[in-house]
Amino acid sequence: MMKGVILAAGHGSRLLPFTSYRPKHLLPVAGKPILHRSMEYLRDILKIDDVVIVVGHQRNIIMDYFKDGEELGMNISYVVQHMSQAHGLAAAVNLVEHDVSNDFVLLLGDNLFQADLSKCVDLHFSNNASATIHIEENEFPQRYGVVELDDDDNVVSLEEKPVNPKSNFVITGFYVFSPAIFKMIKGLKPSTRGEYELTDAIQRLVVNGYSVKAARIDGWRLDIGYPEDLISVNRLYLNDTTHRILGDVKDSTIIPPVYISKNCKITSSTIGPYVMIENGVTINSCEIRDTVILENSEIDHTLMANSIVGTQSKVIGIKSNSLKVGDYSIITNEIY
Ligand code: G1P
Repeated sequence: MMKGVILAAGHGSRLLPFTSYRPKHLLPVAGKPILHRSMEYLRDILKIDDVVIVVGHQRNIIMDYFKDGEELGMNISYVVQHMSQAHGLAAAVNLVEHDVSNDFVLLLGDNLFQADLSKCVDLHFSNNASATIHIEENEFPQRYGVVELDDDDNVVSLEEKPVNPKSNFVITGFYVFSPAIFKMIKGLKPSTRGEYELTDAIQRLVVNGYSVKAARIDGWRLDIGYPEDLISVNRLYLNDTTHRILGDVKDSTIIPPVYISKNCKITSSTIGPYVMIENGVTINSCEIRDTVILENSEIDHTLMANSIVGTQSKVIGIKSNSLKVGDYSIITNEIY
């Protein structure tokens, strides 16, 4: 059976302050943390139930959440990437060398996919490749690892965040590797951003004559790097099947789809569509749509859209945009 490796050691600094109290991998998407959805994806779509998670920053929260994976019907183990150790994705992958003995899949823990990546795994084995990378066309290739392809989707070169990209095809965050990748990681030098880049290790595979394939597969994928991505990904996941009202709702209008967790109290408000509310939130006399509200917040007499309300925020009488309330933030793009 193939193993899955998930990288979830990052700091999530682009998602501050929402990541002050938890790793970004545990921010909610339609009632479940991002990483919970990745695990279900590995289990249900790729039929992988043996997973190693590389953890680092706020690792105890992740380990407490998933434990040994039994509740998900999976077998989960952890490897720690300490702050004092080498940085970067290649350095993180290097840490699992002794946990995988055959070809394995690697998933970046802040990516969610609708695309059926089992096709990427099939392609890897049918081509007997040493690495197969899921790619997509992107209008901002400079922000990603960029691949140059030949006519048969063989990768002929890779560059991490190039100033002059050779194509619009970018690495998404899903890879299939043979153990040859570990040899390539050894001897890498840190990039200008001070990280050991996985893209550079794959480039070494190419230079050394290993077969590296690219897979383009229909369907969206999102990396949750910035606050607005959390709102978008909730919009994508909230639908008829994820719509839930578990909390207490009185004298209010709910416009589906929404996710209202238990221990919430909603009164005299209009909520939805596309609102994700975590546990312990109180809302009174509000109109809220396209918004993610983190746990134990209190919102009163407020109009809000395209926003994230941070953990334990108090938002009272707000009707404008781009607000910061102390350490707790509201981000709203809309003016009422
Ligand atoms: C990382 C990889 C990059 C890839 C991207 C996908 O970038 O280094 O090659 O395209 O993930 O999300 P980072 O998120 O570290 O900037």
